[in-house]
Amino acid sequence: MYPIVEKRVLAPRIKSIKVKAPHVARNVKAGQFVVVRVDERGERIPLTVVDWNRKEGTILLVFQEIGVSTIKLGLLKEGDNILNISGPLGNPTEIKKYGTVICIGGGVGTACIYPVARELKKAGNNVISIVGARSSNLLILEEEIKSVSDEFYITTDDGSRGRKGFVTDQLKDILREGRKVDLVYAVGPAIMMKVVADVTRNYNIKTIVSLNPIMVDGTGMCGACRVIVGGQMKFACVDGPEFDAHEVDFDSLMSRLRTYIQEEKRALELLQTKVKGGE
Ligand code: NAD
Ligand code: FES
Repeated sequence: MYPIVEKRVLAPRIKSIKVKAPHVARNVKAGQFVVVRVDERGERIPLTVVDWNRKEGTILLVFQEIGVSTIKLGLLKEGDNILNISGPLGNPTEIKKYGTVICIGGGVGTACIYPVARELKKAGNNVISIVGARSSNLLILEEEIKSVSDEFYITTDDGSRGRKGFVTDQLKDILREGRKVDLVYAVGPAIMMKVVADVTRNYNIKTIVSLNPIMVDGTGMCGACRVIVGGQMKFACVDGPEFDAHEVDFDSLMSRLRTYIQEEKRALELLQTKVKGGE
């Protein structure tokens, strides 16, 4: 059992939980994830480890309530227990001195860039961060990411904060200035990562994305997380989750992400009926 020691609401439907999970906290590195199972009947939810405290034995997870499992996770309170947390899983980010690195976070994917930006900064890089959301109330971890960045930009789709437009518009502005950029690291919706890859391809800038396909076991056994990278089939959980963005087949990723939309909708309706019925 893994007790929740702190819970915060970061934005509508986006929550963070600090959980006691000493075996993860001891070993986790930036870029890795855990698989969480809320209860006996729960699905397995892959979540990036956003922060950790090795001494306390705690990890910080950020999630968006989009389906039954994440809604159930969001219903847990401080002091409640999570049934299982497996991890750390996946390969850590390659942290080294690249020079100038642009870290891009879109929506809830923003949480995943925080540990990476922080470790890249510690490794001596000049870190430029771009964080985007649909609207100002959906921006998360602003202060945390700003504190580990040399330059920090916000974009909102509706212009309610920062530059109006997508994160990729800010990226284009920076690259058009002719600045030397050695690496771009992006996490967010698949379409955002696809567009980031299209922009940086023109400038020949190495670009890494962290993929979030459907996952089940998270250990390379079920094949649910297969993605096409460089024309070859890879398992995001063991070969990734990070890949060279210029090699990723984003169209097949997006199509696989849509596979269970109907089932997810039905499961959500069932949960709503149960909640209304007081079960
Ligand atoms: P969203 O749809 O609100 O988009 C967030 C930002 O991404 C936008 O503000 C914009 O700046 C950018 N963006 C969106 N569409 C774009 C486009 N067509 N071109 C360029 N930029 C675009 O995001 P959300 O609702 O918070 O959803 C977050 C998504 O991130 C979910 O799909 C979730 O599965 C995914 N996610 C991915 C990871 C990962 O590891 N890759 C981790 C967490 C979440
Ligand atoms: Fe099962 Fe990756 S989640 S192989």
